[in-house]
Amino acid sequence: MKRSTGLTFGALFLGALLIIGFLGIRLSSEMSAAGQDAAQDNETSEDPGNAAEIAYNPPSMEDVPDGPDGDAIKRGFELVNNTSEVLWSEAATAEDGRERVNGLSCTSCHAGAGLEKDSSSLVGMTAAYPMYIGRSGQIVTIEERINGCMVRSMDGEKFAEDDEDLDAMVAYFKYISEGVPVGAEMPWRHTNSMDNMPVPNVEDGELLYQQSCIACHAEDGSGIGSNSGPALWGEDSFNDGAGMGRITKMAGYIQNNMPKGGEGTLSDQESADLAAYVLMHDRPEWKGHDKDWPNGGRPNDIITNELREQIRNGTVDWEEVLRKAEK
Ligand code: HEC
Ligand code: HEC
Repeated sequence: MKRSTGLTFGALFLGALLIIGFLGIRLSSEMSAAGQDAAQDNETSEDPGNAAEIAYNPPSMEDVPDGPDGDAIKRGFELVNNTSEVLWSEAATAEDGRERVNGLSCTSCHAGAGLEKDSSSLVGMTAAYPMYIGRSGQIVTIEERINGCMVRSMDGEKFAEDDEDLDAMVAYFKYISEGVPVGAEMPWRHTNSMDNMPVPNVEDGELLYQQSCIACHAEDGSGIGSNSGPALWGEDSFNDGAGMGRITKMAGYIQNNMPKGGEGTLSDQESADLAAYVLMHDRPEWKGHDKDWPNGGRPNDIITNELREQIRNGTVDWEEVLRKAEK
């Protein structure tokens, strides 16, 4: 009798466990389905009030773990933060170094190695890529996107697919993207562009440049250092296939980020004037303009050599340059 009661209780207990376990699995699978729905809403929702705001909270470099993974993250940080310094010092000759990369660092445009929120932040990139890029006309991986900035913004050479330095950069981006789910809407992305940019005045731009910019970027635009005042034109600067070579992006970037320490003080007009003044000067030329935007939608505001000359001799048709590209 005693034994059979024990058995009955045992069986009951087991049964109860099974039921709880079964319910638990049901519950967690329903919860993750709900999570997916929420993520899809975030991607497509027109009403930002509906979507949960993703916190901007990248981990600190001080918390990088020890060991090989941590070493890769630290190497990636160095490469992003001091790109030309590192790659020049490791090149066989000075000429090799210059071919590899111009005088900038990724930090020159993605401030704080991509950690500063308003300066084209790179937080979340490993969750955002692969994604379709109109300029390339295809789906692009994070590695390819890094190489895109290498050959345009850094006017240099691509990393080979199996280059450990490329892996290190990706490891760093993965680290600073911790906690950002794939498909999340990141409100800090693509904020440095000016809609409805006013027609610029380059004479006013020159005066403003003398007043507010030469202390860090030098009168001849050659700058004082990749992370203290990077080159804005000339051979150490980005080539005219770079995003910053589009005048609406340059104007938006300047307004949101410059002059460093007094950001947010320039009007639309002043930022436009400065962007035109900076972009009318010579810079390296991108050889692949004719292959960009293969599926159409090429923006009109890419300041190529032809437009630079027109800005200098006053014949540029600004309305045409600032006309929105048809999607
Ligand atoms: C001369 C300025 C400049 C430099 C230097 C530069 N970038 Fe960029 N980068 C940009 C601009 C502009 C964009 C486009 C941002 C936008 O559309 O809002 C961009 C976009 C990116 C993106 C995609 C961002 C997104 O939200 O999709 C990645 C990744 C990136 N850069 C990585 C790098 C890396 C790595 C380096 C250094 C090897 C680098 N960049 C150097 C200007 C620069
Ligand atoms: C106190 C120094 C300082 C002043 C003044 C300053 N900048 Fe910068 N600028 C920087 C630094 C440092 C960076 C690198 C990114 C960062 O740290 O925000 C930068 C980056 C830039 C970039 C992107 C990088 C590149 O090479 O194209 C542009 C464009 C720019 N500045 C334009 C301007 C303009 C225009 C002015 C004048 C209104 C100005 N800056 C005033 C320090 C300065």
